[in-house]
Amino acid sequence: MEAKTPEASKTVLTDVVLPGETNALNNLFGGELLARMDRAASIAAGRHSRRITVTASVNHVAFTKAVPLGSVVTVEAKVSRAFRTSMEVCIDVWIEDRQSGERTKVNEAIYTFVAVDETGKPTTIPEVIPETELEKQRYAAALRRKQLSLLLAGKIKPQDATELKALFD
Ligand SMILES: CC(C)(COP(=O)(O)OP(=O)(O)OC[C@H]1O[C@@H](n2cnc3c(N)ncnc32)[C@H](O)[C@@H]1OP(=O)(O)O)[C@@H](O)C(=O)NCCC(=O)NCCS
Repeated sequence: MEAKTPEASKTVLTDVVLPGETNALNNLFGGELLARMDRAASIAAGRHSRRITVTASVNHVAFTKAVPLGSVVTVEAKVSRAFRTSMEVCIDVWIEDRQSGERTKVNEAIYTFVAVDETGKPTTIPEVIPETELEKQRYAAALRRKQLSLLLAGKIKPQDATELKALFD
């Protein structure tokens, strides 16, 4: 299986915030943004693996800024690292100023997807070769995040989270 770059899985979704998607403050609902991010991340995971993919976990979400009604929202997702059957997808979200076009980052998130066959059984995927400095940083930290996610899900024991332990040594 040939390794791929994060750029090869890059997925960009741009859409506007409509009245039915906002809260009482006229800002985008968190759940609506989560759904848009899940959709973009799912496409990126599919581009990397060329398999059916399912969301296994949402590892990190930071809602740093509110997204007002009428905003043009761009969600960008890329696979940052692949393991045996699972892959980490990093998602960045921007809004743009209507007049200047200047972009403001409003959110970032990290999701884990698993590639599966037609029966839902996990299946192997290509490796990732990071290229840019940011891609290299995200690649390096991905194993630590995988171990944290598995630990919180009760799927590994604390003593097996070697990358996490190394942070405190
Ligand atoms: C995700 C799923 C396929 C994993 O199945 P499983 O029986 O746990 O399979 P495995 O134990 O072999 O794990 C498969 C991979 O997922 C990873 N994984 C499983 N749970 C994880 C979690 N909580 N966080 C991070 N990685 C996880 C494993 O580490 C393994 O990765 P690797 O092969 O790259 O090392 C299964 O739990 C599933 O189908 N869940 C439902 C998915 C779904 O419907 N999502 C949409 C929700 S609405």
